[in-house]
Amino acid sequence: MSFGLLLAIGKEKQDQKTCSSAEIKSLWRLPKTLIFPLPLYPQNPLSLSRLRELEETMTNNNNLNTKIRFEDEAAQGSSEAAQDESMSDAAETTDDTTSADYYFDSYSHFGIHEEMLKDVVRTKTYQNVIYQNKFLIKDKVVLDVGAGTGILSLFCAKAGAKHVYAVECSQMADMAKEIVKANGFSDVITVLKGKIEEIELPTPKVDVIISEWMGYFLLFENMLDSVLYARNKWLVDGGLVLPDKASLFLTAIEDSEYKEDKIEFWNSVYGFDMSCIKKKAMMEPLVDTVDQKQIVTDSRLLKTMDISKMSSGDASFTAPFKLVAQRNDYIHALVAYFDVSFTMCHKLLGFSTGPKSRATHWKQTVMYLEDVLTICEGETITGSMSVSYNKKNPRDVDIKLSYSLDGQHSKISRTQHYKMR
Ligand SMILES: C[S@@+](CC[C@H](N)C(=O)[O-])C[C@H]1O[C@@H](n2cnc3c(N)ncnc32)[C@H](O)[C@@H]1O
Repeated sequence: MSFGLLLAIGKEKQDQKTCSSAEIKSLWRLPKTLIFPLPLYPQNPLSLSRLRELEETMTNNNNLNTKIRFEDEAAQGSSEAAQDESMSDAAETTDDTTSADYYFDSYSHFGIHEEMLKDVVRTKTYQNVIYQNKFLIKDKVVLDVGAGTGILSLFCAKAGAKHVYAVECSQMADMAKEIVKANGFSDVITVLKGKIEEIELPTPKVDVIISEWMGYFLLFENMLDSVLYARNKWLVDGGLVLPDKASLFLTAIEDSEYKEDKIEFWNSVYGFDMSCIKKKAMMEPLVDTVDQKQIVTDSRLLKTMDISKMSSGDASFTAPFKLVAQRNDYIHALVAYFDVSFTMCHKLLGFSTGPKSRATHWKQTVMYLEDVLTICEGETITGSMSVSYNKKNPRDVDIKLSYSLDGQHSKISRTQHYKMR
């Protein structure tokens, strides 16, 4: 799962119930205070119902804040007893976390965890891996890197782990402690609040490391480094990393409507040339669900990472690709997505975030091309993609995409740069 700072509205899809543009506009005018706690839904299209739900929740929270302020003010001018009562009411309902806290730490808000837990492709796969392969977990010491609500730790505890260390750096660690206690696993799960890179683990080694570290475009957020750090420091020889394989794929799509709406829009805004923003918009890959009908070429594997063996540097790579058109069409964007797998299971388990699979909260990553490629069936787009962590902010990902088409109707060769942030 990833964080970001913008609430953006995604495109309408034929197969999804989304907002009409008028509805989007009215909901888009959420007060800034409502938008701040929503880094949870960066660049993601929100369904109308989801937007309304969020708006409602936030409005209720605002009302709550107003009420607390009012009670505080009233208490100042009233009797001691009334003040005490009011203050204790307020103490019970006040959460002194502010939007600024969420700005820097979106994982402290329960909303992002709700989104992840409700992603059944993601969460059910982890559950199946653990429950259907108890032999991997039973009587083992497990380290859960980035435990969040503690869900993976709870699965492991239920599967008979000897002990689980659940490490979580956000405020959610406090909730995880409560959740562990409420479910009667306090003797099996120890929640440690802090960064994995900074905590002291009360055991010299662990048998299993489990983590859900994947970001948009697999690598955004760079949480993989934290898993590799934990693996190098604490995993016993021959220990297990779950998941142990992650692969990045590339395909190409027709997407004229949305490219027009999101990119070409800047050419003439109420008659003014704002194309300097278009350049910026082109550089930011869009996280969105792609309809499989938009896919024009086959898919190619760019890179497979073996989490149990790789080094941190292996996450930066250059990979060649060759995409073959499956019909006559126009290509507006290349699309990246990833699969993860748990190869140590009795039967291979994993999931794909590709456009042909059931949608996940990771959606796909769309990189618009400056050119529209007019491609004929059987023609190939060749090129290479270089991926590296940004030097200034290693949680951001820099992507360099070179592509060429030497086709009947299009002869194009170009290099474009993108930045996931
Ligand atoms: C994608 S969420 C997964 C949460 C939970 N494991 C689940 O599956 O629902 C990743 C979690 O890792 C935490 N995290 C990220 N980097 C961390 C680090 N270096 N040390 C500890 N926790 C970290 C985040 O705060 C976040 O709660």
